[in-house]
Parts: sequence; structure tokens; C-alpha cells
Amino acid sequence: MRNKVTVVGAGNVGATAAQRIFDQGYADVVLVDIVEGLPQGKALDMQESGPVVASDAKVIGTNGYEETANSDVVVITSGIARRPGMSRDDLLLTNMKIISSVVQEVAPQSPDGILLIVTNPLDAMAQQAFKVSGFPKNRVVGMAGILDTARFRTFLAEELNVSVESIEAYVLGGHGDTMVPVVGSTTVGGTPISKLLSAERLDSIVKRTQDGGAEIVNLLKTGSAYYAPSAAIAQMVEAILLDKKQILPCTAYLEGEYGVDGLFVGVPIKLGAGGVEEVIEFDLNASEAEALRNSAASVQELVDVMANAG
Ligand code: APR
Repeated sequence: MRNKVTVVGAGNVGATAAQRIFDQGYADVVLVDIVEGLPQGKALDMQESGPVVASDAKVIGTNGYEETANSDVVVITSGIARRPGMSRDDLLLTNMKIISSVVQEVAPQSPDGILLIVTNPLDAMAQQAFKVSGFPKNRVVGMAGILDTARFRTFLAEELNVSVESIEAYVLGGHGDTMVPVVGSTTVGGTPISKLLSAERLDSIVKRTQDGGAEIVNLLKTGSAYYAPSAAIAQMVEAILLDKKQILPCTAYLEGEYGVDGLFVGVPIKLGAGGVEEVIEFDLNASEAEALRNSAASVQELVDVMANAG
């Protein structure tokens, strides 16, 4: 029997992630959205691509949750984007409500599943999903670090004219302006990046990585990135379903690791069939460790706003 993956939110990120998972053929996909017809239409269109992309997986679209029962992974992308005149806190509280209502529906249907949170602000939404689901910490994980790291690797590969695959790097911390590209452990074919690029060029690539989401939004004008985010989701789903035990930067619940307690922040984890099987503690230099703690503090501010709102 094939694995089953539910994707909630049939917008740009959700539908593209569903497509990438369907194309691989190793999991049936259930696409859920509140808009009538949208998930059904996209699912049918995707299903009809099966003979061409050689996938026998089943994909269905629905406005309900019964069809999601016993999913191995539930990817949550539902939410709204920030609208003009809306404050960051308004967005936070609106998406908090959406995540809460979706998790209340999916968690009882898939009590043994793994929740993969994508909606922004990511770290705060993962925290909310953890609280509402009551799932153990290893079965709630957020997607951000792979995306931020992919942007960093893309820019470095372009600068150095080498394959993206030759760049080993990790971007940690919260998914926002305070994210921490760990320059100290970034290597190109085993050579430390600091030997290949000036501090000035590195700083500008770090800055471009931190502003990576905004750069896309400014170009698109309406909507935000989805090709790279959906690729990152598919990589995480594959690591779980194929029990790859891959070391990837993801958002996970920390209990003392990196000096952070009781909070979701982006860190290297071992991702496999058990979800977050281990938090890997890198040796960070003093300034990187401080940057990570600062980043965690900005996630904590959002979590506090949510707690005060009830
Ligand atoms: N239940 C189900 N679906 C919902 C709900 C809900 N309660 N509320 C909103 N949605 C759906 C919308 O109908 C829409 O189809 O979520 C979808 C969001 O899609 P888009 O607006 O296209 O947004 P997208 O670009 O996919 O981004 C989704 O991922 O990367 C993050 O910042 C991004 O938080 C955003 C999320």
C-alpha cells in the first residue's frame, strides 16, 4: 500500500507541493482547501497528468477532512498573505486561528501522522500546531531552513561558478530577518567559504539570503515564492516516508538545545520515519550562537503575542 500525504491549502505552495509529491509516485495525495472546487479541480488536473509523468498515485481534492484519515504526513500551507494595512500582529493572529482550526480537524483524523507546518510566520505557527495537536514534539516540524539554505547555496554557487551540489551550508534560526546563515561551517567541496570569498562579498550574500523571500515578493507583486518552498516540502516528505534519516535544517521544538527552551526554531535535525528523530548540535562560534539566541528571542515575541491573544 502506498503512503498517504494530506496537503491543506491548495494555493500556490500547497498545490505545487502536492504536484511534486504526486510526480514521485510513492504517496497518494489528498488536497484540502476551503474554496469549493479549487482542490477538486487541481487534483483532477494532476491525476490526469499521471499517464504522462508515469505516476499511479491517487490524488483527490476535498473541502472536508474525512478523506484525510490516516495520513502519514499532513502538510499545512493554509493561511492568508499579509494585505495592505494589515500589521504583522494582525497577520499572526489571523493565521494562528486558521492553523488552530485546521489542526483541530486533521489531528484526530491522523493521530499517528507527522504535521509539517509551512504557513507563516512559520516558527510561531509550528508552536501553535504543537500546542493544539497535543502531538509529541518529534511529530511536529516546520519547513523553512531548507528553503533559506537553498537560497544561500544558490547565490554562493552563482558567485563561485560551481555546482549547487558542491556547496554545503546551513541556515538556522527563525524564518525571518534574524535567520542565521552559518558561515563558519559553510564549505565548497570541503574548502571553508572564508578562503574563497571576501568578507564583504559573503556579507552581501548573507544579506540577500535573509531578504530572499522579500526579493521574490517584490518581483511577483502579488503572492510569494512557491517553487523553492514546495521543493523543500517534497524533500522533507521524502525524508520521512523513505525513512532517510537525513540531516536537514528544519524548524523543531527545542528543550535546552542551543540554549533555547520550549520554542520552535530552525536547527539541523535528523529527519526520518519518526519525524524529528534528533536535534543535531553544531559547534557554533560565539557570534553565530548569539545570533541564534537573538533569532529565538524574536520567535518568542510572536509566541507571547499569541499567548496574550488567548
Ligand atoms: N482551511 C483550508 N484552506 C484554507 C483556509 C482554511 N481555514 N484558509 C485559507 N485557506 C487556503 C486558501 O483558500 C488558499 O487557497 O490556503 C490557500 C493559501 O494559498 P495562497 O494564498 O496561494 O498562499 P501560498 O502562496 O500557497 O502560501 C501559503 O505558505 O509559504 C507560506 O507565507 C506563505 O503562509 C503562506 C503559505
